[in-house]
Amino acid sequence: MLNPIKLASKNFLSSLDISSEEFLYILEIAKNFKNKDLNIKLKDKVLGLIFDKASTRTRVSFQVAMSRLGGTTVDLNPNTSQIGRGEPIRDTARVLSRYCDVLAIRTFNQSDLEEYAKWSTKPVINALTDLEHPCQALADFMTIKEEFIDFKNVVLTFIGDGNNVANSLILCGALLGVEVRIACPKGYEPNDLIINRANKIYKNKNLLKITNDPIAAVKGANVLYTDVWSSMGEENQKEKKDKDFLGFTINQKLVGNADKDAIVLHCLPAYRGKEISDEVIESKKSRIFEQAENRMHAQQALLSCLLA
Ligand code: CP
Ligand code: NVA
Repeated sequence: MLNPIKLASKNFLSSLDISSEEFLYILEIAKNFKNKDLNIKLKDKVLGLIFDKASTRTRVSFQVAMSRLGGTTVDLNPNTSQIGRGEPIRDTARVLSRYCDVLAIRTFNQSDLEEYAKWSTKPVINALTDLEHPCQALADFMTIKEEFIDFKNVVLTFIGDGNNVANSLILCGALLGVEVRIACPKGYEPNDLIINRANKIYKNKNLLKITNDPIAAVKGANVLYTDVWSSMGEENQKEKKDKDFLGFTINQKLVGNADKDAIVLHCLPAYRGKEISDEVIESKKSRIFEQAENRMHAQQALLSCLLA
């Protein structure tokens, strides 16, 4: 029987907190949870959720994953806790880690997440920051593996804003040796820190490509992926971004330029008619709802390892 392994890192703040071997093992455990071949009970364990931004999938998939593991969750938000009134992270982290066994945090700055991890005595999980969304990427690569069995020769093209979701795809692509192409409008490229980190890991230096040409980027691609144009916290930039991202919609025409067996992914929530057309979301190529389901299995696997 497959057993959760203790991960080398206490925390999961970044996709790079796990090795490629640990990544593949988590995906294997997730598959076993999904197929109901694995039943692990972590009696009485408590996951604390601290969400400074909205969430449907991440919050609920963590809650259900924890309940399937025999544990419970506490859901905190800035309005109902002292966090919104300015209690310092170092105090909140020290108190909550005396009550909870693990914390999942969604916030803006990666440095705030790191501050929680510094002061928490229990594992801290990145449930999305402006820089990374590593739990999303676990589910994304689980979905890709379900489709293509392994990652050999898979070309993943992300079309959209080079921020958190794209950053995590880049880092995981580097870990797993997957060709990742990012197509974004000028000025929306992923940050150099992420690109440099990925290029240090990639054995083949030509596997990460950044371009401003979506049509060229999808040629021969097996996976097309997109995310909202205006992320949480960017509501005041919406008008400008809607203009800047014109031509970067995943529609039938763009899909027609990809490999004939290509699949389409989206982390959700989706804005139909902006980053993706309704037709594509509802098409046979879409694996978007499988991907959303996989959030739960992947996080159940992650929690079982972090609490092993
Ligand atoms: N994809 C994702 O993280 O969704 P939520 O914002 O609903 O959690
Ligand atoms: N880039 C998006 C992802 C949502 C899951 C955001 O940060 O809002």
